[in-house]
Amino acid sequence: MSKSILITGGAGFIGSHVVKLFVEKYPHYKIVNLDALTYAGNLENLKEVQHEPNYFFEKVDIQDSDALEEVFDRHGISDVIHLAAESHVDRSISDPLAFVKTNVFGTVNLLNAAKKAWEGELGLHLFYHVSTDEVYGSLHDGGFFLETTPYDPQSPYSASKAASDHFVRAYANTYKMKTVVSNCSNNYGPNHFPEKLIPLCINNIKNLKPLPVYGKGENVRDWLFVKDHARAIDTVFHQGKPGETYNIGGFNEWKNIDIVRLLCKKMDEKLGREKGTSEKLITFVQDRAGHDHRYAIDATKIQKELGWEPSLQFEEGIDLTIDWYLANQDWLDHVTSGSYQEYYKELYEGR
Ligand SMILES: NC(=O)c1ccc[n+]([C@@H]2O[C@H](COP(=O)([O-])OP(=O)(O)OC[C@H]3O[C@@H](n4cnc5c(N)ncnc54)[C@H](O)[C@@H]3O)[C@@H](O)[C@H]2O)c1
Repeated sequence: MSKSILITGGAGFIGSHVVKLFVEKYPHYKIVNLDALTYAGNLENLKEVQHEPNYFFEKVDIQDSDALEEVFDRHGISDVIHLAAESHVDRSISDPLAFVKTNVFGTVNLLNAAKKAWEGELGLHLFYHVSTDEVYGSLHDGGFFLETTPYDPQSPYSASKAASDHFVRAYANTYKMKTVVSNCSNNYGPNHFPEKLIPLCINNIKNLKPLPVYGKGENVRDWLFVKDHARAIDTVFHQGKPGETYNIGGFNEWKNIDIVRLLCKKMDEKLGREKGTSEKLITFVQDRAGHDHRYAIDATKIQKELGWEPSLQFEEGIDLTIDWYLANQDWLDHVTSGSYQEYYKELYEGR
């Protein structure tokens, strides 16, 4: 096989779409999905590819350096696409250290394992680090994040991702590792854990449960369909220039409250409910501590230099997403019957 790619966090939301795309599109690559299977890891996301001969799974925590070294060795890893992370801002507010352990310590551990495995030929192998637009901080009503925008993380999650980005660039500079970093806006789509806004609303609308919206719902996010992010990762992995950073986004800004209203409207139509039924479920809850006002990505560089652009309009992507959740009740049941229920209660119903 021409490459043996370690994809970390491949059982999570975005990682599972990246794994599926690579396994199916590149049968001559060996794809090794390394994931600790935290509450966010779900191997059911990978059912379509789990029996493919070029797919391998390793249940390993990126904090475990011995296990990482062993995986690099045994699979002859040639390149890394690193997505494993603690990813939920609310969880980072209640337990910041968990984010330092996985996102910072775990990333440095992985860099060290790669550096050791590739000693003497660092220029031949790529370490691709997947990051977020949240590292740039919060925008007011004008302007966009560019690749050159100074980092200004505002939450424990974004601070830990910013630190991991800095370490990746430091390894490129200090040890001459071949690295690339991409910073993407908010993703939505199938297999999204229902603690995040869009799947949480779809699930609650379906079950006629309250729709918790932080503050007045005025916060603005730029949304990208997850499969378009996976396509962008494929593009950056194969065509990105070493040492560069690429912003990935959909030029698609929405206020949270407008997304919730759109979901209500579409789900009333799809479920044959009377117009306005779901909007009555909207419940404004106390705002998230330090809630960033607006994120907006300028994705011109990846469009112009690498020819990537989003394939879907937002409303098409939202339709596909709602239809997927309605058709995959088993997936939702399996997720929501776990410890997620307890967490959900603590987070929203205790307020
Ligand atoms: N979701 C978004 O909108 C978004 C946007 C931009 C960037 N990102 C970045 O993309 C990556 C993936 O995000 P996601 O939304 O798919 O996250 P996710 O929470 O759905 O998945 C994370 C995966 O990492 C695994 N994991 C967590 N800790 C681990 C550890 N210590 N060792 C090994 N595996 C571990 C989990 O089991 C899970 O499968 C993250 O790095 C995130 O910062 C996410």
